[in-house]
Amino acid sequence: MLWWQIALICLPIVYFLIIIILSFQNPEKHVKWNDTNLGNLKFPKDFLWGVATASHQIEGNNKNNWTQFEKSKGLEESGLACDHWNRWKKDFDLIERLGVGTYRFSLEWSRIQPEIDFWDEKVILQYSNMVDNLISRGIEPMVTLHHFSHPIWFQEKGGFEVGKNVSDWVDFCEKMFNLLGDRVKWWCTINEPAVFTTMGYVLGEFPPGIRSFKTTRSVAKNMMLAHALCYRKLKKLPYGDKAKIGFVKNINIFDPYRRWNLLHWIQAKILDEMFNKCWLRGLKTGKFRPPSSLFSKKIDGLKGSSDFIGVNYYTHLLATPFMPTKVEIDPLIRPWEDRTDFRYPMYAEGLRRSFEMVKNLNLPIYVTENGVADDDDDMRPEHIRRHLWITSQAIKDGYDIRGFYHWSLMDNFEWAEGYTQRFGLYHVNYNTQERTLKESGRLYSEIINLNRMPQIVILAGGLGTRLGKLAKDIPKSLVEVNGLPIISHILKWAYGQGCRRALILTGHNGEKFKGFKFSGMDLKFHRESEPLGTGGALFNALELLDDDFILLWGDDYHPIQYGELVNQHFNSGEKLTMTVTESHDSMNLKHYGGRVIEYNKNETSEQFNGYEAGTSVVSKSVVVKYGKLGKWSWEEIIYSKLSGKINVYLDNTKFWDVGTPERILKLEQFFKGRGP
Ligand code: GAL
Repeated sequence: MLWWQIALICLPIVYFLIIIILSFQNPEKHVKWNDTNLGNLKFPKDFLWGVATASHQIEGNNKNNWTQFEKSKGLEESGLACDHWNRWKKDFDLIERLGVGTYRFSLEWSRIQPEIDFWDEKVILQYSNMVDNLISRGIEPMVTLHHFSHPIWFQEKGGFEVGKNVSDWVDFCEKMFNLLGDRVKWWCTINEPAVFTTMGYVLGEFPPGIRSFKTTRSVAKNMMLAHALCYRKLKKLPYGDKAKIGFVKNINIFDPYRRWNLLHWIQAKILDEMFNKCWLRGLKTGKFRPPSSLFSKKIDGLKGSSDFIGVNYYTHLLATPFMPTKVEIDPLIRPWEDRTDFRYPMYAEGLRRSFEMVKNLNLPIYVTENGVADDDDDMRPEHIRRHLWITSQAIKDGYDIRGFYHWSLMDNFEWAEGYTQRFGLYHVNYNTQERTLKESGRLYSEIINLNRMPQIVILAGGLGTRLGKLAKDIPKSLVEVNGLPIISHILKWAYGQGCRRALILTGHNGEKFKGFKFSGMDLKFHRESEPLGTGGALFNALELLDDDFILLWGDDYHPIQYGELVNQHFNSGEKLTMTVTESHDSMNLKHYGGRVIEYNKNETSEQFNGYEAGTSVVSKSVVVKYGKLGKWSWEEIIYSKLSGKINVYLDNTKFWDVGTPERILKLEQFFKGRGP
């Protein structure tokens, strides 16, 4: 046989061998969604649940590189956006209503430093107030220092194209960290540098609208340098050691359109390298090879310059050598995939592949953005369910994923796409600025609550001696108020707060609860063989307690926001959080610096400045450590043992203690007109 005959036979074999190896190494996973139980979710209790925004997309009336670009290109202008700069408090109510524990937003550098030599103190104060306000709601702020927008003066100097400009941005970061570092723990340096460079310098769809690989390389290198310098600088400032500072990377999965076509594979590999791999490798090794460059260069301080990796994930793209470089052209999708409003497909499986991609950085992973453009909200609920399922499965398989931020809180200005793409959990009417919770928002909130809300434990053993004949034959939590046993009112409130599991400690009189049900709530009852008091009842049910639980009194109706209470509890680091009211006719405790330092159930003192309002959050470890067999009082023993270490949740919402017939009457009146 001649050599060319041998080659002719071997070539196709080699070709297909290469394809087989590539396919084997890079499977394009697709889940059979119809056969998947998306309700099967499990998240750690300290998992961070959040929503995300960026300043230029929501604040309104900015003057920065973007507004300049919008005008010069005749794009839809961001204008008033969501007018968030004026409506931030109300918008924080919306965040709180979702029940999230954290909020990611960016600082608008162009507002803070509109001129190179002018820092706007009023603006700085507002950001500081915003941070305080979030914290007071038990919502942890996560601050992004660069999210695509910057001042015009910076752009005019050449922005990140010029290496020496990097120090301008690092100075800004330093100033912001000095201002907020005592309160903000989570910091993202630069949002999606690969998107910023590709869109701004390769495709020309973002400012400054250039198409040049040469400039792209400088910008990419300078952004990596900026990230590294920023990380190193902030770490040295006060609170820097406690701060968690991370890099936020958009992961785009690239798959070959035809899996038998080597050219498609080559294109996918090149794009993956330029868009994903070179950045991640840079972060890992400290040596960065900018997209389209042949050489890598060491960047001082880059190696290990992240306490976490932020993953923004949206989709996968199917590569061919002739891919459109204009975003207006529909990307290719698989026939069974759904196209989002942004025209790329919904592909939740890619989120798992993103986790795989960042895994070898050995950093905690936070999904810092995930969401979908979906005008009529018919795709978003499924999008949320699938991506959360993928996340939950990955956690189960050992990935260190610690949080998830939905993009976005509300519809907003979607960069080059203007207002055409709606990503929000809240719909925004841009004429009236009215916000409306979407079905998907409700779903996200429901899932968060289900996963964040601890078990509730109700002490329902009280006999109700002071209630006289009202509680002659039944425990007092079964006494009816406005047509329902008091315990049903309590459960109804807890259900509305997202709780779905309750343990009811019925005392020794428990047979009266036989047949008691509450729709939607998984109820467990535990009975005592003899009266054990409040502490004894809890110790007696030790086996049935979750690691953390919300403790309620079976005769108190206390309609407060559990989400806020629970956030505050987990943020406090204490084992017990007590709700304290300062507006009560008597006082039974003294609190100072956010902690209860003295408690006396029976005696009052001039020094006392609060009253225990009933609802608390307890770590089981407290019951384990201080509990004992027999009869004892929770309040008397535990509150004195933990004195100084009880986190105070201040809330002046009225609470209803139904210990006497007069009080029952009052609660009856309160419920009148509010339905059963
Ligand atoms: C990200 C970006 C966000 C948002 C989102 C939706 O790349 O960080 O600002 O626009 O995409 O497309």
